[in-house]
Amino acid sequence: MSYISFYRKWRPQSFSEIIGQEHVVQTLRNSVLKNRISHSYIFCGPRGTGKTSMARIFAKALNCVNGPTSDPCNKCNNCTSISAGTNVDVIEIDAASNRGIDDIRDLREKVKYLPVILRKKVYIIDEAHQITSAASNAFLKVLEEPPEHVVFIMATTEPHEVIPTIMSRCQRFDFEPLKLDKIKARLSDIASSEGININESAINLIAKYADGSLRDADGILEQLSSFGDSKITVDNITSLLGIIDQEMLFEFTNILIEKNTNQGLLFIKRLMESGLNLKIFVTELLEHLYNLYVIKSYENPLDIIDVNEDAKGKYFNQSSLFNIDEIEMYLDIFSELLKQVKWGEGAKTFFKTAVIKAINSSVINETNINSRFKKIDSELNELKQMLKESTNVNNECLKEKDAGMLITNNKDLQQKTVKNSGTGRKSSIEKESSEASRDNLALQPEKAINAEEIEKFLRSNYDKLTALVKKKSISLEAVFKEATDFNIKGNNTIYFYLSEKKKFHKDHLNKVKNATVIQESLKEITGRNMKVVFDFEEDNNNTEIKDNDNIITEKKNAKMHADNFEEEATSNDDIIEPEKNTVKEQKKPNEVKGNKTSAENDIYDYIETKFGKKIIK
Ligand SMILES: Nc1ncnc2c1ncn2[C@@H]1O[C@H](COP(=O)(O)OP(=O)(O)OP(=O)(O)O)[C@@H](O)[C@H]1O
Ligand SMILES: [Mg+2]
Ligand SMILES: [Zn+2]
Repeated sequence: MSYISFYRKWRPQSFSEIIGQEHVVQTLRNSVLKNRISHSYIFCGPRGTGKTSMARIFAKALNCVNGPTSDPCNKCNNCTSISAGTNVDVIEIDAASNRGIDDIRDLREKVKYLPVILRKKVYIIDEAHQITSAASNAFLKVLEEPPEHVVFIMATTEPHEVIPTIMSRCQRFDFEPLKLDKIKARLSDIASSEGININESAINLIAKYADGSLRDADGILEQLSSFGDSKITVDNITSLLGIIDQEMLFEFTNILIEKNTNQGLLFIKRLMESGLNLKIFVTELLEHLYNLYVIKSYENPLDIIDVNEDAKGKYFNQSSLFNIDEIEMYLDIFSELLKQVKWGEGAKTFFKTAVIKAINSSVINETNINSRFKKIDSELNELKQMLKESTNVNNECLKEKDAGMLITNNKDLQQKTVKNSGTGRKSSIEKESSEASRDNLALQPEKAINAEEIEKFLRSNYDKLTALVKKKSISLEAVFKEATDFNIKGNNTIYFYLSEKKKFHKDHLNKVKNATVIQESLKEITGRNMKVVFDFEEDNNNTEIKDNDNIITEKKNAKMHADNFEEEATSNDDIIEPEKNTVKEQKKPNEVKGNKTSAENDIYDYIETKFGKKIIK
């Protein structure tokens, strides 16, 4: 006898064999008993929960020679041919590959013909959400006036993607993911009738990986059983199924961080050759990314996630190389992939595509793009300044000396330009230049406004500062809010203070990238470039901060929002004029493309080369 895979061998053949989905079973049975059959049904629910099986059983219930009956006999020719998938009147269509307008026109033609053998012609349309919108309209016409002899059963894992007009014409049933104990019971059943020797904890582990899908559970058990007669243990599962070695996850994530396409392609090749189960790899990868996400976002991540002692340092290290938007983007890409990789089916292409997409994508969300624009803006200004200076020098040279110097200067300039437009992501160059510009800013001569006046002004406008930071980055503002006080030292450095319990927040804020956002916001509000430092509060009652010039004593935890400082607020114009050329309107890339001023186009091109080939918003 030829080998039949578990999921076919164990496909439920009657309503009573369906596990779970009780409400669906009951309603369908009743409708047959009461002869209230609708023309179109839609079965919605996650993969491997019984939609196709249920559709076939329903087709048998309608067409069993002893029926219509809620208990098809499974013996008559009608039942057996439907079960075998050979009955001409039960037509299964995979909308993933027959989704176009021509396919649907064809269907419309054929729907008219009476069934050859059965009472009802049954169309089972899988992946119904894949029908194109053009085809949907044609299909809708069929659904509006279905011939008496036809029943449509659609199935979909993505009900929200089904065109609403189609959805509303169908009787909808929602299939639930199977509960863990039901999956375990089912696995035990199959194991005992197939003579598979497996212990309880191994069954547990399989059930966990099946994640609500009985198809997956059957598939894993089958894969394991083909390895021989000996007892299946948890160890077997981890090695045979290739539950992924943590090293591989770190390695793969590093490839993403480095955006290393070469290594990425090699990794794909290795993974394919190793025979590891792709679905499990993707599941584990998502878990890994989630851990990194938690470490990045929470003060005490280890309260939330469970990472083993050895891996702890590595996790923290790796998470510091990411920004949170990137992790979110990878979570998106790979959870989308997880939906596509069905158990044991052609997952390789999906996998390769997703990996390439992940490597080549850069996050540029609105917050990001705004702050990057500003950074680029200032780099561009720097370049312009250099150009101007160099032209001046060159003019001098031309006037006074020989032309040789011109070449030298331009060369220098070119080198600087090339350096600044390098494509290295998060490169040291980028850090350098932003650090350099901070230092430059700090060194710039300031207007004759003293630190006290700025402080006073800032206290009464503190809410503007937080609002501006929030506009630039919601997540940063959430952390920035933890600062309880500030003061300006030596005219040009502003210290923000946080409680000693907020070490995570303090370190986060001190990162160049974040401090720069605060610095830029401060500049927009006060007109002053100040170096920004986050520090711990110095003692519990009064904060006495020694400074080169003066000693400032502040009541600790003095609230800094404007409403608390109204008395102190002076009219804006007698103190500080915010800079006139502050970028107020935040630009989006497409807007920039539209207004083709050359400087803006330069910025746009610069972003494209600097931050990757593809921009995801
Ligand atoms: N509710 C269930 N009861 C019993 N077996 C099930 C059930 N759901 C799934 N199975 C098992 O999984 C296999 C596949 O189920 P089926 O094709 O009906 O799922 P599906 O919901 O159509 O999945 P997909 O969305 O992936 O097409 C069945 O052959 C059976 O072995
Ligand atoms: Mg199906
Ligand atoms: Zn029958």
